[in-house]
Amino acid sequence: MSGTRRTSKGTALSNIGSYDERLKGFDWGIAREILGWEEGDLLNIGAICSDRVCARDGAGKIALIWEGFGDRKATYTFDDLRVYSNGFADFLVGQGIEPGDRVCVFMDKIPSLYFSFLGVLKMGGIVQPLFCAFGDESLEVRLASAGTRAILTTQKHVRKVRKIQERLPSLEKVIVVAGDESKLKDGEVFFDVEAALRVEEFESHAAGPETRSVLHYTSGTTGQPKGAQHVHDSIWGQVLTTSWVLDLRDDDVYWCTADPGWVTGTSYGIIGPWALGITQCVLDSGFTSSRWYQFIQDNRVTVWYSAPTAIRSLMRDGEEVAARFDLSSLRHLTSVGEPLNAEAVVWSEKAYGLPFLDTYWQTETGSIMITNFPGMKVKPGSMGKAFPGITAALLDLRTHEPIGEPGKVGLIAFRPGWPAMFREYRGQDDVYRSKFVGAADDATPDELRTNEDLWYVSGDRSSIDADGYFWFVGRDDDVINTGGHLVGPFEIESALVEHEAIAEAAAIGKPDAVNMEVVKAVVTLNPGFEPSGDLELSIMNFIRKRLSPLAMPQEIEYVEKLPKTRSGKILRRYLRALEWGEEVGDLSTLEHD
Ligand code: WTA
Repeated sequence: MSGTRRTSKGTALSNIGSYDERLKGFDWGIAREILGWEEGDLLNIGAICSDRVCARDGAGKIALIWEGFGDRKATYTFDDLRVYSNGFADFLVGQGIEPGDRVCVFMDKIPSLYFSFLGVLKMGGIVQPLFCAFGDESLEVRLASAGTRAILTTQKHVRKVRKIQERLPSLEKVIVVAGDESKLKDGEVFFDVEAALRVEEFESHAAGPETRSVLHYTSGTTGQPKGAQHVHDSIWGQVLTTSWVLDLRDDDVYWCTADPGWVTGTSYGIIGPWALGITQCVLDSGFTSSRWYQFIQDNRVTVWYSAPTAIRSLMRDGEEVAARFDLSSLRHLTSVGEPLNAEAVVWSEKAYGLPFLDTYWQTETGSIMITNFPGMKVKPGSMGKAFPGITAALLDLRTHEPIGEPGKVGLIAFRPGWPAMFREYRGQDDVYRSKFVGAADDATPDELRTNEDLWYVSGDRSSIDADGYFWFVGRDDDVINTGGHLVGPFEIESALVEHEAIAEAAAIGKPDAVNMEVVKAVVTLNPGFEPSGDLELSIMNFIRKRLSPLAMPQEIEYVEKLPKTRSGKILRRYLRALEWGEEVGDLSTLEHD
C-alpha cells in the first residue's frame, strides 16, 4: 500500500507513506523537520502556533473561520492570532500573572477562547481549559484542585465564578473578556482584546521541553476528576499525528467539532493544526444535522474530526438530510472519544462517500495512540493499529504480562515516554503511580514517565487480531461479568444499533442470583419506532444471530435519552449504579438539559 491511494472521491492522500514505511526508521524528530524547527529555536506552543507560522510566510493566511449563534461570523488571519494572543499574554503579565501560574479559560467557543489559550502559553502560564457548561460546583472542584490564580471568562458565565470565589483563596483575578463592562462587580477586570491596543511585539516565555503547558481535567466517566498535566514538548506528538493521521495539508479547511474544554479540542482543535499553519473552522452553536452540513457546505470543509455520539445523531436523521447539502469538499473523516460502531463506518461511506477513520487515545496520552491511517485497510469496528513510535500491547487481565495470541482480551497498555504523555495528575502522585504496571512504591512521576520497563495502563480492554488491529471491548469498569465470563459492552451495543429501530444503546450488567450479572440493554429508538412486544421480538431475533448466548440481553429498557458526559460519552457507570441501587459517585460531568 502506498500514500498515493485514492479515496472513493478520487483525492490523493499524500502526507503519509505506508504504515510499514513509517514504522521503519521512525523518530519523533520528524515532527521537528516538518516544522523546520531546530535546536535553539523557541519551544513555546503559543508562539509556534502563531508567531512562527507568520514568520514562515503565513501571516496573511486565514487561521480561524468562526460562526456563532444566529448569523455571527468572523475570520482571523494568523497575524490576528499572533497579535491577539500577544494581547492576552501582555495583559496577563500586566495583571501580575507569572510563569507557572494556572490560568483557567472558561468560555464558549468564542474567538477569545482561542486567543487567550495561546496567550497564556506565550507568557509561560499553565492554561486550564474548562467546559463552560460546568456548573459552579464542578468549576469549584477543579479550580481548587489546580490552585488556579486567574480565570478568564465572559459576562454570561461569570456569575458561576462569583458564587464560589470566596472559597477559593488562590483565585486572585477574575477577568471578563466579553459582554457588558458596566455589569462587572468590584474587583473584576474587563479586557476585550479586539478593542484594546494591538500588541505587535511580545517576547514569549522561553519554555523548556518539560515546562508545564496545558492542564486538562479528565472527562470523568469514572471516579473523581483528575488534572492531567501536559508540557510544551507535547507539541511534537501532536504535530506528527496531526500530519499523518488527520493528514492535514496546506490548503485544507479543517473542522474539529470538539470543545477545547476537552483534550481533543486542544490537541487537535488548536495545537496540532495551528502549529502546521492550517485553516481551522469553529462552530459555536447547538447541534442539528442541517446546521452542521450547512457549515461544511459554506466553508468547504475538507477534513473533519468528530465523535461517535455526533455521528450517530447524524445517522439518526438519515442520509436524506445529508443529500440536501453539497458535501463534496470533504476528503477525510476521523472520529474519537468512544467506540465507533462498524455500522457508523459503513453508513458514512454511503452518506458521504468516505468512511470515518477511528482514532483512539485519552486525555492522559495527549495525542493519538491507536488509529486507522489514511491509506491503511479499514476494518470497520476496529480502532486500527498503534501509531509508529508508540509501543502498545495488551496485558493479561490477571498477571499483567503481555498477551501474545490474537483474539484474547487484555488491558490496553503503552510503554512510557512518548512526547505528549501526561507528566502527572496534579497533586495526586499516588493515583499517577497506580496507572503503571511494575512501578516501585516510591517512584516519582518523573521516574515513571521515563522508565521504559513499565507499562502505562489505559483502563480500557481490547483484543488484537492477527494483523495487529485493535478491537475495543469496553472500559475496564464497564465490562460485564456473567457467570464468570467477561462480556464487553461494545459488541452488544454494536449489534443492537445495527437494528433499524435502535439509535443508541448501552449494555450494562444487572444483578442476577445465579450468574452474578446478566446483560441489560438500555436503548433509544429512531424516529418512527415505538416500544412494543413485536419490536422486542424483532430486536432479540436480530441480535441473536450476532451475539453469543452469554452476551444476549435479558432485558431491554427504552429511554428517551441515554445519560452522557458533557463530552458525549455514554455513562454506563450511572445506569449500572441505578440498576444496583448503588452510590453513583462523581457526576459533575453528567450532561443536563
Ligand atoms: C474512550 C478523548 C473506543 C476510551 C481523546 C478512553 C475510545 C477514553 C476511543 C478517553 C475509541 C476514546 N474507541 N473508545 N476510538 N477513543 N475512547 O480522556 O474509554 O476524554 O479511555 O480522551 O475514551 O477519553 P478522554
